[in-house]
Amino acid sequence: MPATATPLVRLTGVGKTYGNIRALHGVDLDVRPAEVSCVLGDNGAGKSTLIKIISGVHRHTEGELRIDGEPVRLSSPREALGRGIAAVYQDLATVTLMPVWRNFFLGSELTRGRGPFQRLDIARMKAVADAELRAMGIELDDLDQPVGSLSGGQRQSVAIARAVHFGARVLILDEPTAALGVKQSGVVLKYIAAARERGLGVVFITHNPHHAYLVGDHFTVLRLGTVELSAARADVTLEDLTLHMAGGAELTALKHELARTAGVDTKALPGEDGTER
Ligand SMILES: Nc1ncnc2c1ncn2[C@@H]1O[C@H](COP(=O)(O)OP(=O)(O)O)[C@@H](O)[C@H]1O
Ligand SMILES: [Mg+2]
Repeated sequence: MPATATPLVRLTGVGKTYGNIRALHGVDLDVRPAEVSCVLGDNGAGKSTLIKIISGVHRHTEGELRIDGEPVRLSSPREALGRGIAAVYQDLATVTLMPVWRNFFLGSELTRGRGPFQRLDIARMKAVADAELRAMGIELDDLDQPVGSLSGGQRQSVAIARAVHFGARVLILDEPTAALGVKQSGVVLKYIAAARERGLGVVFITHNPHHAYLVGDHFTVLRLGTVELSAARADVTLEDLTLHMAGGAELTALKHELARTAGVDTKALPGEDGTER
């Protein structure tokens, strides 16, 4: 995808204050089709605030948000969804006893017949859910099984497939791998890559640079609400990313302090020579 194409979403100098708390300031970010844009940062860095602005949960108080080149102020998640922006949150609001196929269509059920004869079209919902999950490479033995019986990674995957089916062009994932083990995280990363293959622009929030680097095309590191690093994959190494996440300068200072403490092997810590920022 040429970098000159109009981004699906473009943030320019975006900021947000909650009362007198400045959660975000001067943030630039582009989301392009068929790209994974990773947003990294420590707790409180402003990651969730940023994606809440893109997904219509909160309005920005500074700067500009453009969707398909058009400046907008979103007033609800529904409005964002109407423009093709779907967010999948970590604590998925899934009804755990509900069968997978039913959950897939929750709020958008397929029906057949009219008026008093209208019925849920169960067979078609099962068939469509099955086809969409398979198209994303998700194979479940039984779509009648309750959502609650799925693993964390599978639940995230179903939510991703659902967003794709209902026409999302931008998929926002807030720390989808945070609560997952290595194997389950791998499952989710695979579907992030699958969503990109299908041409979606993905915003992947994480504080794990390894996860980000496995799938990311662009990386934005937030620190205390501002952009500390913004780099394309070609311009950044996993080590750079790890150091920025750890707060390179702070880490070096911490190491000098630890060096004075007996029993701490500071050579084993990253940023050993202190030259890294
Ligand atoms: N609804 C809110 N009201 C007041 N302050 C908030 C609210 N949401 C977040 N904040 C503050 O904004 C800052 C950024 O938070 P957040 O966007 O949740 O960061 P992250 O997701 O990176 O951990 C923090 O200082 C947090 O306390
Ligand atoms: Mg958060």
